[in-house]
Amino acid sequence: MKKELKVPLIKNGTVIDHITAGNAVKVLIILGIPETSSVVSVAMNVKSKLGKKDIVKVENRELDPKEVDKIALIAPKATINIIRDYEVAKKQRVKLPDEIVGIVKCSNPTCISNANEPVESRFLVIKKDPPRIKCYYCEREPEDISERII
Ligand code: CTP
Ligand code: ZN
Repeated sequence: MKKELKVPLIKNGTVIDHITAGNAVKVLIILGIPETSSVVSVAMNVKSKLGKKDIVKVENRELDPKEVDKIALIAPKATINIIRDYEVAKKQRVKLPDEIVGIVKCSNPTCISNANEPVESRFLVIKKDPPRIKCYYCEREPEDISERII
C-alpha cells in the first residue's frame, strides 16, 4: 500500500515551488485565491533538498509581474513554473527588482506616500534574501513586510 499522498500534477497553470515554509497562505492571499474560483492545491512543510518548503499549484492561471514581485518579498527562493499540457514550459526563479513601486505601503503615517498626494509608494531593496526594503521618501524600513503588501 502506498503510504504517501502526493499533490497531483496539473495539466495547465502555475506551480509556485520552493516557497519559504509556512508562507503558502500569504502566497494565496497575494493571488487573491479565496475570492477566485481557480482550482488550487497547497502542500506545506514538504521535505526538500534544503529543509522544508511550501508549494502552491494554481490551475489554468498565469501570474502577472506584480504578483511575482509580491511573492519575491515573502518567498525569495520561490520558483514559478508555467505548466502547459503537463510539461514545465517555463521555470523562473523570482527576483526582486532594485526598486519596488506601488506594492508595499509605508509604515510611517506622515510619509508623503501616505498623504493625500498623487505619490505612489516607492521602496529601495537593500537586501534580497531575507528581503529588506526601505522607503525611498522617508527611509523607514517596515518591520514585517508581508503585513504591508498592498
Ligand atoms: N509540476 C506539476 N504538474 C506538472 C509538472 C510539474 O505540478 N504537470 C510541479 C512539480 O510537482 C514540481 C514543480 O512543478 O513541484 C516543478 O517541476 P519540475 O521542474 O519537474 O521539478 P524539479 O526538477 O524538482 O524542480 P526544481 O529543480 O525547480 O526543484
Ligand atoms: Zn515612507
